[in-house]
Amino acid sequence: MPVHTPAAFPAARLRRLRRTSALRDLVAESALRVQDLIWPVFIREGEGIEEPVPSMPGVSRLSLDLLLIKAGEALELGIRTICLFPYTDQALRTEDCAEAWSPDNLTNRAIRMLKAELPEMAVMTDIALDPYNINGHDGLVVGEEIVNDPTVKALVKMALAQCEAGADILGPSDMMDGRIAAMRRAVESAGYKDVAILSYAAKFASGFYGPFRDAVGASGRLVGDKKTYQVNPANRLEALRCVARDLDEGADMVMVKPGMPYLDICREVKDQFGVPTFAYQVSGEYAMLKGAMENGWLGEHVMLESLLAFKRAGCDGILTYFAPDAARALKS
Ligand code: PBG
Repeated sequence: MPVHTPAAFPAARLRRLRRTSALRDLVAESALRVQDLIWPVFIREGEGIEEPVPSMPGVSRLSLDLLLIKAGEALELGIRTICLFPYTDQALRTEDCAEAWSPDNLTNRAIRMLKAELPEMAVMTDIALDPYNINGHDGLVVGEEIVNDPTVKALVKMALAQCEAGADILGPSDMMDGRIAAMRRAVESAGYKDVAILSYAAKFASGFYGPFRDAVGASGRLVGDKKTYQVNPANRLEALRCVARDLDEGADMVMVKPGMPYLDICREVKDQFGVPTFAYQVSGEYAMLKGAMENGWLGEHVMLESLLAFKRAGCDGILTYFAPDAARALKS
């Protein structure tokens, strides 16, 4: 896109269009809308429980009765997609991760409840084994290795159970090779032809996921790191290759994760592929901003500024723990 070079001063005074709020809004190039937000929520067993996550001030694990109430409130605020992350009871975490595809696991019960009670809310899931794995990895572990192909088979079972429960959007976040193709094939032949896949395509091996691992109870368990399956933060071309591959295999939408440190990748994905592109403002980004806001080191307005940056970078939408607060801020 050619950028017009402004004429020399004083013909060009760029401050003319910054003078009043009306003029600034008139020429705003991007905008954040409430319908751009996907709200990631942590869920747990029990009743009437809202259990704070210490490393994410303002975020709690919700029992399903409270999930329903909060999801209803979110819907009223205009948030129409919710993404579920389970805190699995420690006793149900095993080496084979069988709880991940149990038809009545926490996530599948939550999907059924939400689709029955709030049918207009789109429900997105996460597909990876870490909330069910005894060693905190996204894939099955044999010896020292996170084994690819057997993991893909397990993930397919997990995807089918979520479709059966009524999920609208599947979110494979595991970074195994060949998962999207395998899932798309299985989901299609089981008759769920309209279930969408939002692939965590450009997912980096990031330190910014720390608070999330606390929230799902996987941090104490993780043996080693996730560098053999998540993308090296140094690599831009490899991230683009992941996106191309996942689209080829049947993803409907793609995600870049984390968000703010990877805005360059967001822009390139949107420009190169022109498909629905999402960013995940991950737990560590949230903790960083929220912590500074709570201490008075940053003003509250950094929340909307950080989200608008994703829109400017080409994203269609953002997964953010700020979703309800951001929706309220957008209203006022
Ligand atoms: C797990 C998964 C992770 C996140 C979403 N799905 C963590 C990880 O890969 O270790 C992170 C989200 C966040 O940090 O907010 N597969």
